Amino acid sequence: MNQKIITIDGPSGSGKGTIAAIVAKNLGWRVLDSGALYRLTGLQARNQNADFDDVHILGEIAGHLQVEFMDGKILLEKHDVTDAIRSETAGNDASRVAAVAQVRAALLDWQQRFATSQGLVADGRDMGTVIFPQAALKIFLTASAEERARRRYKQLKEKGMPVILTSLVEEIRERDERDMNRSEAPLRAADDALMIDSSALTIDEVVEQILAQAREHCDLPL
Ligand code: DC
Repeated sequence: MNQKIITIDGPSGSGKGTIAAIVAKNLGWRVLDSGALYRLTGLQARNQNADFDDVHILGEIAGHLQVEFMDGKILLEKHDVTDAIRSETAGNDASRVAAVAQVRAALLDWQQRFATSQGLVADGRDMGTVIFPQAALKIFLTASAEERARRRYKQLKEKGMPVILTSLVEEIRERDERDMNRSEAPLRAADDALMIDSSALTIDEVVEQILAQAREHCDLPL
């Protein structure tokens, strides 16, 4: 059991990223945004015009990424790709490479090395089930497809992008289906995970629940 690791898994739009960052900041721990690693692999594959059906090439790319995380910025081979990896295309490419066993295997060690004595909040899909099964606190964060669609709708509107709410709900349902039914590390809660449904909760309320659990299960200074 590692009392310095908290895992937060769940579907996209459940608020994991935001919540993991706030919890980590509160505890003075590091954060691992594992989705970024799949996004970086997808971006690099596209930059190199790689064949997305060639699982060996994709595995090679994942195993040789040259990435630096610097003050909230992400550099891929010295280029700032912080915004580029958040694009819709990068998200779709990430989803494709994330289904490849060779890619997941290549990223395994790297993810595990994020765990240090400083403490780690790891955000993703398989943090509690595959990468850090020994974590002392595992959270599975969900929200209804409608609520996640509403959040995404708001984000896209704020960016001035045209969106239709009903198609977002459909897209989210389809993505859930794909993530839960893929053969490699499907999205599912660890048996010992605490389920939190954030549909009707504010960010602060979710953070407070997780911190209360952390005080109980983790190694925190008094
Ligand atoms: O959380 P995100 O949207 O940045 O994730 C991008 C993609 O990577 C998404 O399709 C799910 C996948 N992913 C994964 O398979 N395993 C993880 N631990 C994190 C993300």
